[in-house]
Amino acid sequence: MSHIVWLDGQQVAPSQASVSVFDRGFLYGDGVFEVMRTYGGRVFAMSLHMERLGRSAERVGIALPVPLAQLEREVLEALAASEADEVKIRLVVTRGEGPLSLDPTTAGKATRLVIVTPLAGQPAELYRDGVEVALLPGGALPGSPAAGAKAGNYLANLLAAHEATQRGAYEAILVGPAGELREGATSNVFVVRGGQVVTPRPESGILAGVTRAGVFEAARRSGIAILEDVLFASDAYAAEEFFLTSSLREVVPVVRADGLTLADGRPGPITRRLHEAFRQLVQGGGFGTEDSHSGPPGD
Ligand SMILES: Cc1ncc(COP(=O)(O)O)c(C=O)c1O
Repeated sequence: MSHIVWLDGQQVAPSQASVSVFDRGFLYGDGVFEVMRTYGGRVFAMSLHMERLGRSAERVGIALPVPLAQLEREVLEALAASEADEVKIRLVVTRGEGPLSLDPTTAGKATRLVIVTPLAGQPAELYRDGVEVALLPGGALPGSPAAGAKAGNYLANLLAAHEATQRGAYEAILVGPAGELREGATSNVFVVRGGQVVTPRPESGILAGVTRAGVFEAARRSGIAILEDVLFASDAYAAEEFFLTSSLREVVPVVRADGLTLADGRPGPITRRLHEAFRQLVQGGGFGTEDSHSGPPGD
């Protein structure tokens, strides 16, 4: 697989690309990141991703090593070096190297990394048939500084995703201590309840996804209202429709949860309409670019 790697502003051969064992990203997961994708070779909603990276860094108190505009140029240079038709891009900024100390003020200069990888398309059955999810305990604590930041510590999420896979499900849905639905291990959740599309509020500690924002915009253009509210596990099991959103997967219908069939077990009409409207938004090209800031709600 042909990866392109840029480390601290320089292109590096993937086999030679390495960071220090004292890098806090390695030692503590002390960093922030973004995952972007291209459509037709152009990065989707790049300014929203870059803004979110800036916000994530601010929330956890990481000083960016170079201005966001330069990071963006480096991403675009790495993209230009790739020969793949469509790619996914991982942009990582860690707090950098330091002594073995939790104290973040002991870190040196932040490390920055761009990895560009060919993007594998999603199987058509995903959208045609829908998927099963497993509800599992997890999610960031609302109010903690890292909540809402796309920060490096993904251990809880990756273990939940693994547990979901072990149970034969496609994604883990993280449920808080009061039984509230938060988000998927790597996605946001939407439920149709009483004919109304509902999704958890950003203040509930979720990551406000760029795709989530795109779905809000697609819904606005389609005349479909979306409510931000508290959702519980019972809402998932009783959902008329249920779908997940993420940059790499767009809008994925959920038709089973913890072995229970939701509604008639088929992807629902609102989910299909929103996915179609989202694809039109993508094709239109203007969403989340410098010139269009039609709003991601909340965050
Ligand atoms: C925890 C979490 N929530 C939500 C998302 C969806 O975000 P986006 O639509 O920006 O890809 C992701 C994506 O990886 C995620 O990791």
